[in-house]
Amino acid sequence: MVNIGIIGAGRIGKVHLKSITYNVKNATVKAIADPFMSAEAEAFAKDMGVKVITKDYKEIINDPEIDAVLVCSSTDTHAAISIEAIKAGKHVFCEKPVHTSIEKIKEVARVAGESGKKLQIGFNRRFDHNHGHVQQLAASGKLGNIELIKITSRDPEPPSPEYAASSGGLYIDMMIHDFDMAMFLAGCDVEEVYAMGTSLVDKRIGEAGDVDTAIVTLTFKNGALGVIDNSRRAAYGYDQRVEVFGSLGMAADENDGDSTVRVFTADGVVSDKPQFFFLERYMASFTSEMRQFVAAVRGEGEVPVGIHAGLMSVVLAKAAKKSLDEHRPVKISEILEA
Ligand SMILES: NC(=O)c1ccc[n+]([C@@H]2O[C@H](COP(=O)([O-])OP(=O)(O)OC[C@H]3O[C@@H](n4cnc5c(N)ncnc54)[C@H](O)[C@@H]3O)[C@@H](O)[C@H]2O)c1
Repeated sequence: MVNIGIIGAGRIGKVHLKSITYNVKNATVKAIADPFMSAEAEAFAKDMGVKVITKDYKEIINDPEIDAVLVCSSTDTHAAISIEAIKAGKHVFCEKPVHTSIEKIKEVARVAGESGKKLQIGFNRRFDHNHGHVQQLAASGKLGNIELIKITSRDPEPPSPEYAASSGGLYIDMMIHDFDMAMFLAGCDVEEVYAMGTSLVDKRIGEAGDVDTAIVTLTFKNGALGVIDNSRRAAYGYDQRVEVFGSLGMAADENDGDSTVRVFTADGVVSDKPQFFFLERYMASFTSEMRQFVAAVRGEGEVPVGIHAGLMSVVLAKAAKKSLDEHRPVKISEILEA
């Protein structure tokens, strides 16, 4: 049995706690830590049978019975806590983004590499049944040489302007998942990005220095081209679609609704809206990524998403911000070698 400690009892910490408790074999959550543990989070953890509920994450790091740590705390703490946990002999699952500093991510990579401990990064969308299937088709060669990749990713409603200001901005907070998805679908890294962005959803997001409507074009190392569009508000719900176009064909997915029922009347045909947001749309993918992490910790293979993905996604987010600020295409080498 893999004993797990979760650091951070907010939204995503609770998602992982629930999926391990109900849906992941060979693993149990022994402890959860959060300095601002809410009464609701504490009650939830007790309900899930967690034995140790603490405000101090070091209790988890120092517990010899704990094999693996999930770092689900605020973004600015991910790198330091991951390093501490690895040095204490734990395997680590770290939520995205690993850090906003390239240097810090490289340090996490170095420490993990020297330790031989498993380190998985939380790019759960790779485990989505739709996107994963498109990727398998692309990787199988059935679509021929990959030439174009299109990703649409739109949230149902915008965050508060205060959140936008403190989140690091749309490229690192939101589009980071799409950068990782683009490289996953293409099967290679990106060479250059060109970003456009504006605030059409909420002008206060623009006043806070961020964008809420964005397009980024990508040139992949294998010569293929890609485009990602993001909006912080889609009136019809969470819009998550990908498409890979190659020399032999195309694979594209559609949104998941709550049902497949369509109602036909004289006015037209109506079907369900896309599922509301990430907790509904991607819940199964959170379970799959955790199953694979536990399998890797048990020695049944490598982690499916390593630190390279953690690094390159942040590099792309930084390149996109630079491109937006300087109104020009930005080479990835400008960020990686800065
Ligand atoms: N993979 C995904 O789709 C996904 C989805 C949501 C969030 N995330 C990432 O997960 C992280 C957390 O996001 P969230 O939405 O759960 O935020 P949240 O604010 O709901 O929860 C974060 C929690 O971390 C706690 N925390 C802060 N410092 C801590 C420390 N030193 N030790 C223990 N706990 C600490 C906070 O008190 C808070 O309760 C973010 O980095 C976010 O980017 C990933």
